[in-house]
Amino acid sequence: MEKLISLGKRRGFIFQSSEIYGGFGSCYDYGPLGVALANNIKKAWWQAMVQARDDIVGLDSAIIMHPKVWEASGHVESFSDPLVDCKQCKKRFRADHLLEVASMKPDLDARKEAPKSTKDIICPECGGALTEPRNFNLLMKTYIGAVEDEGSLAYLRGETCQGIYVNFKNILDSARQKLPFGIAQVGKAFRNEITPGNYIFRTREFEQMEMQFFVNPKEVDKWYDYWREKRMNWYKDLGMKDEFVRWRQHTKEELAHYAKEAWDIQFDAPFGGWQELAGVHNRGDWDLSRHRKYSGVDLSYTDPVTNEKYIPYIVETSDGVGRAMLAFLLNGYEEVETRSGDEESKHGKEVVLHLHKSLAPIKVAVLPLSKKPELQKTAHEIKDSLAENWMTQYDETGSIGKRYRRQDEIGTPYCVTVDFETANDKKVTVRDIETMGQERVAIGDLKEYVEEKLGK
Ligand code: GAP
Repeated sequence: MEKLISLGKRRGFIFQSSEIYGGFGSCYDYGPLGVALANNIKKAWWQAMVQARDDIVGLDSAIIMHPKVWEASGHVESFSDPLVDCKQCKKRFRADHLLEVASMKPDLDARKEAPKSTKDIICPECGGALTEPRNFNLLMKTYIGAVEDEGSLAYLRGETCQGIYVNFKNILDSARQKLPFGIAQVGKAFRNEITPGNYIFRTREFEQMEMQFFVNPKEVDKWYDYWREKRMNWYKDLGMKDEFVRWRQHTKEELAHYAKEAWDIQFDAPFGGWQELAGVHNRGDWDLSRHRKYSGVDLSYTDPVTNEKYIPYIVETSDGVGRAMLAFLLNGYEEVETRSGDEESKHGKEVVLHLHKSLAPIKVAVLPLSKKPELQKTAHEIKDSLAENWMTQYDETGSIGKRYRRQDEIGTPYCVTVDFETANDKKVTVRDIETMGQERVAIGDLKEYVEEKLGK
C-alpha cells in the first residue's frame, strides 16, 4: 500500500488535501492523472448504466436538500455508527469493526466463541478496557443563511440516492418511462466518519455512482439477482481479477435501516483483508413510502396495462468512485523485472500499472527518439492529431527506456516513437504496454490504428 501511495503522489494521481497546512481529516485531492482516472471510471459507469440502456435515465440533483428529506429517509434517526473509546489510550474505534475482526479470529483472544458484544473485547492498540458503544450520527450538518440556529440547519447529502427518490415523480411524469426502470446519478456524498482512513478507502467527502431500479414488488427477487450479476461483471469486464473480488451478504444485524437484503462486492485489500467496494441493496418500499408519508405527495405507481397500484420496490446499486479507483489501482499494480531498458531502474524492478484501456488516464504517449528539431516537429504534429480524440502526452526527456518506464507505471497502453527512420519511411513504432510488442505503423494510418485498439 505504501508503494501505491508513493506512486500516487509522485506521479500526480492522489494528493493529501491542504497538504501545505499539514493535510485535513482524511480528505484527498486528485491530481492530473487521478482526475483523468476518476473521470474514466465515471464515464465507464455512465456508459454501462445509462447510455447503453433504454430503461435507465440520468439525474443530477442538489447536494443540499430540504432537511425533511433526511428525516423521512431515516438518516437523522438511524444513520449512525456504534462508537467505543479506549479508557486507557483514548483511541476511538467502530464497535462493529472490532467485533467483526474479533469474530474472524476468536482464538486470538483465547476464546472459543466469537465475542457478541464489546464487553468481551479489549482495545486492539493497548489492551485497555473499552467504553460502552455510543451511537454517533454520520450526517454532516451545515447552516443555510445568516443565522445559525435549528431553523437554518441543513445536511450535506449522506447518500446520492435520496435525490433520486425525491425526483421519482418528476421523472415518471417527464421521461416517458414505465416500470421497471431506473434513475442513475453520480455525485458527491458526505459522512462524518468516525474512523476514516486507509488512504482514499474511507473519506468524509467522497463520490458515489448510484442507480435506483424501480420495480413491481412481485419482481424484486428477479431484478435483484440481475443487478448483482451486472455489477460484478462490470468490474470484471474492466479487468478486475477473479481472485481480487468476491461477494459478501450482510447479516440481519448489519443491515442498514432501509435494507431488506444487502450484498457487498468486496476486494482483497492490503489493509485488514476483504473490504467493501460496492453494494447492491433491496430497499423494498422503505424510501418511497417514507417520502410519501413525510411530504404528503402520492409516490405510488399505477400500471398502465393492469391498473395495479403499488409503491415500487427499489433495487439499488451503489458504487464509490474513490473506492473503485483504489481497487483498480491495487488490482493493476505490479512490480516486474526490468523491462523498459531504462539503465537507471533501481534494484532491477519496475512498476507496471495494468489498467483497462478505457480507464487509463493517458492513452498514448508520443516520444521522439532525440531532441533533433525535425523529430520534435513530427512528434508534436502526431501528438496534436491524436489529442483530438484521446488523452495524449508528449515526452522528450531522458532515455527512451526511462520514458517507456514512466508510461508503464501510469498504465499508458501505447507509446509511439518517432525515430531517425521516420523521415524516410513516414512510419513510427507503436509499443503495447501489455505485450511489449512493437509495430511499425504509417503515420497516415496511425489514427485509424489507435482507434481500432482503443475505440473512439
Ligand atoms: N445508498 C446506499 C449507500 O450509500 P453504502 O454501503 O453506505 O450504501 C455505498 O455506500 C458505497 O459508497 C460503498 O460501497 C463505497 O463504495 C462508497 N462509500 C461509502 N462510504 C464511503 C466513504 N466514507 N468513503 C469512500 N467511499 C464510501
